[in-house]
Amino acid sequence: MVADRDQDRLSSRIPIIDISSPDQELVARAVVKASEEWGVFQLVNHGISRELIQRFQNVGRRFFELSEAEKKAVAKPDDSREGYARRYTLDLEKKIGTVDQLYHNIWPPSAVNYSYWPKNPQDYREVNEEYTRQVKMLSEKIMEWLSEGLGLRREAINEVVGGEYLLNVNYYPPCPHPDVIEGLDAHTDVSGLTLLLTNEIPGLQVFKDEQWFDVEYIPFAVIVNISDQILRISNGKYKSVLHKTTVDKERTRMSWAVLVRPTNDTVVGPFPQLIVDNPPKFKPMVYKDYIYRKVRNLPFVDLDS
Ligand code: OGA
Ligand code: NI
Repeated sequence: MVADRDQDRLSSRIPIIDISSPDQELVARAVVKASEEWGVFQLVNHGISRELIQRFQNVGRRFFELSEAEKKAVAKPDDSREGYARRYTLDLEKKIGTVDQLYHNIWPPSAVNYSYWPKNPQDYREVNEEYTRQVKMLSEKIMEWLSEGLGLRREAINEVVGGEYLLNVNYYPPCPHPDVIEGLDAHTDVSGLTLLLTNEIPGLQVFKDEQWFDVEYIPFAVIVNISDQILRISNGKYKSVLHKTTVDKERTRMSWAVLVRPTNDTVVGPFPQLIVDNPPKFKPMVYKDYIYRKVRNLPFVDLDS
């Protein structure tokens, strides 16, 4: 019981920001502060309509409820990042649960390959295109606030980090061993920024001050994770949040992550203006080289290591 109460108290501390407030200065400051201290926050009244969120989550859920054979229509080929695939298979020894994944680019149009977008349900494409427009506006707004929080032009972060948008839908089927099994291992996201929706099954946990905090489920809220590339361009001012997920014994958990990331050949390092008075903490790196090292767990030759 005591532990439960502790968890409640802890989870309530993750910043929740109402961005419809007329005092936009205050909103901007709250976003900057949450990014400095936590690297994660929840946005409410963010302007993406509940109806659209419902339709967007419905088409994703309906896709995952198709038969395996029907889902294979958009199977991920070995040489592609995009498509439907099993991300992890239950392994009691490694303590990982089953996670299925649908992954495809959503922006810009030149990066979109509709052969990886489900044709069933029929309105999948229309709904995803509308959600993409809305989520892109929201992410650009966040990047403006974060740029100004660094004393830079409001376009600065978007120009480096906002090149591509990907959708990653995670599907965590019920797992009989939720006490030993995790959904996703502790990690930071490789992208610049992640905008996340989940279904009503809680499971996301974030790390701060040597403790794990549960992220409370707030219907229709957008959870924003600051990720590695914004950590790097901000020279460490904004945190890349360490997070992991749990699984549920009886119910299926789903999450929809939009990853905002630089294009492959973009060089990402601290903004020059930020290293005039402060030493650089990171070496500039081409984004695709960064991913290469991260997915293989290779060390980074950063200046602080
Ligand atoms: C991820 C992730 C969180 C979630 O896909 O990188 O952290 O809630 N997902 O499923
Ligand atoms: Ni993640």
